[in-house]
Amino acid sequence: MNLLVTGGVGFIGTNFVKYVMSHRPNWSVTVLDKLTYAGRRENLAEYEGSSRYKFVEGDICDPVIVRAAMAGCDGVVNFAAETHVDRSIDDPASFVRTDVEGVRVLLEEFKLDNSRKIFLQISTDEVYGSVETGRSGEGDPLDPRSPYSASKAGGELLAMSYFTTFGTPVIVTRASNNYGPHQYPEKLIPLFITNAFEGERLPLYGDGGNMRDWLFVTDHCSALVAALEKGTPGRIYNIGDGQELTNKQVTFAILEATGADTSLVRFVEDRLGHDRRYAVNVSRASEELGWKPQTNFESGIALTVDWYRDNSSWWQSIKSGEFRDYYKRMYSTRLENSERIQ
Ligand SMILES: NC(=O)c1ccc[n+]([C@@H]2O[C@H](COP(=O)([O-])OP(=O)(O)OC[C@H]3O[C@@H](n4cnc5c(N)ncnc54)[C@H](O)[C@@H]3O)[C@@H](O)[C@H]2O)c1
Repeated sequence: MNLLVTGGVGFIGTNFVKYVMSHRPNWSVTVLDKLTYAGRRENLAEYEGSSRYKFVEGDICDPVIVRAAMAGCDGVVNFAAETHVDRSIDDPASFVRTDVEGVRVLLEEFKLDNSRKIFLQISTDEVYGSVETGRSGEGDPLDPRSPYSASKAGGELLAMSYFTTFGTPVIVTRASNNYGPHQYPEKLIPLFITNAFEGERLPLYGDGGNMRDWLFVTDHCSALVAALEKGTPGRIYNIGDGQELTNKQVTFAILEATGADTSLVRFVEDRLGHDRRYAVNVSRASEELGWKPQTNFESGIALTVDWYRDNSSWWQSIKSGEFRDYYKRMYSTRLENSERIQ
């Protein structure tokens, strides 16, 4: 396949391109990425100059750039998105623009060429909203509760509408929370790992009881390749690992793996509208794609901590830039009013 991978130098995109380059030697990849604060071209520097890899800097909302980048591609994997729930509470406009309008621009270009094989829209389990008990199935109603998840729901609904209306071969995947190398340190796991390395406090939202179904990023990537190869157009696939942990349990796993002290942990004012729990049923991906996750949380978190330990220049350069203002805005007051763990 000749893939257009949008958002290819963000967290999951980077891991996906690396996975494809090493596991699918006959495939080639064009990355289209706007290089927002979350995108780093140097993540894939090792492939620059390869005949199987091309990088295009640009916005998925720009039809001219999208046309040029998509030329010659028979598959699209759309990772490009604004992705941080906290930032969506501050600035929903950029989320609606990229996560909904950007999807429309990509679909419009994709549908001009009937020979194209597959449009894979990367969505999230957050579109189901908070699930107190049980596991969300693909047929469950959507109940997105943050501007981020509402925008992602809009994007995937639009993509599916192209399947129904125009016969565009669209597949949607809804993955649970990912963790692993190359994740921008605003998200819980890389923030806490890097703060622990720096001896900084770990600001834990609310009572730390919010629960997520943690998925190691390489397992997500193998599921996406399976969806490209074996998925049925018009289908939605949940992707998750069933490894449910509260944020507090994740925090303690990080303390143990980094050797940091419990006294760094602070309970801070919760995120607005913070969903309590997400959990997905993945039997469809398992039965129809033959996919199974391979990495348990214990080994995944050890690999992740090792990566951040070995690549401190990667995250230190991020933390000294735009991130610093963001962190102050998000956590200064919260940390002033925080409580130590008992
Ligand atoms: N991280 C998770 O736990 C998770 C879980 C499920 C689904 N997802 C979805 O997976 C995708 C990737 O997530 P991530 O965590 O890698 O995100 P990320 O924030 O690390 O990366 C997003 C990438 O998209 C690029 N981008 C943003 N706006 C763009 C635009 N207008 N045009 C072109 N490029 C643009 C950024 O520069 C960046 O490289 C997203 O669609 C997200 O909703 C993420």
